[in-house]
Amino acid sequence: MEIVILPAPADVARTAADAIEQQVRSGPSVLGLATGSTPLGTYQELIRRHRNGGLSFAGAEAFLLDEYVGLPSTHPQSYHSVIRDEFTANVDFVPDAVHGLDGMAEDLEAEVARYEAAIAAAGGVDIQILGIGTDGHVGFNEPMSSLGSRTRIKTLTRQTREDNARFFGDPSEVPEHVLTQGLGTIREARHLLLLAMGEAKAEAIAAAVEGPVAALCPASALQLHPHVSVLVDEAAASRLAHREYYQDTFGRKPAWQGL
Ligand code: PGA
Repeated sequence: MEIVILPAPADVARTAADAIEQQVRSGPSVLGLATGSTPLGTYQELIRRHRNGGLSFAGAEAFLLDEYVGLPSTHPQSYHSVIRDEFTANVDFVPDAVHGLDGMAEDLEAEVARYEAAIAAAGGVDIQILGIGTDGHVGFNEPMSSLGSRTRIKTLTRQTREDNARFFGDPSEVPEHVLTQGLGTIREARHLLLLAMGEAKAEAIAAAVEGPVAALCPASALQLHPHVSVLVDEAAASRLAHREYYQDTFGRKPAWQGL
């Protein structure tokens, strides 16, 4: 894991956008997209680079990490809608190239199998953006998710439903169930970008990065991946015991190496 501590959220967004831009400019690419507040700055930066710098997503495909069960794709809080409104409709993605899970599918088992097959048929994900929940979840893999799990239905914890209530008119409207790529699925992406900003994420980041690999902290499964960049602002890094070590090693890395 490479831990990159940056001064402020805008620096996290720019650094993540740099890695995604480099991937997209290298040729046809498959991006793994996350929702939530965390990646919004990165998406805004990519939209700016599309408008002002000619960055094109016309040759890219994208797969969403997760989706609520029971929300139609037209619902403003469905992740289909969120990713379209916040990112993909503001750049030149071909609409059919943005793939998500159908939380209204009658046969959810068939839907998750279809999604795994679609990711594989696309050649796998080149670069995956991830946020982290206050309980250490990635995607919607809540604590005790199998480290080898595949795309499947999950029940949200009370904590995650409370965390996400701000997006809904009434907390009781937050769905109980979700479809999410599994930790085993996520770990097959070739490069993982785990982003976190703010004090509220500091404990989860410390557990994920410096704690043991344990199902109790699903993000700790990323320690088993060969290429993970953890991009955090000072506040999200504040509980890390080895901050100086991370800053020293990243500061002396050859510039050409990138993330
Ligand atoms: P947030 O959520 O980006 O809205 O903080 C992250 C997550 O739950 O994965």
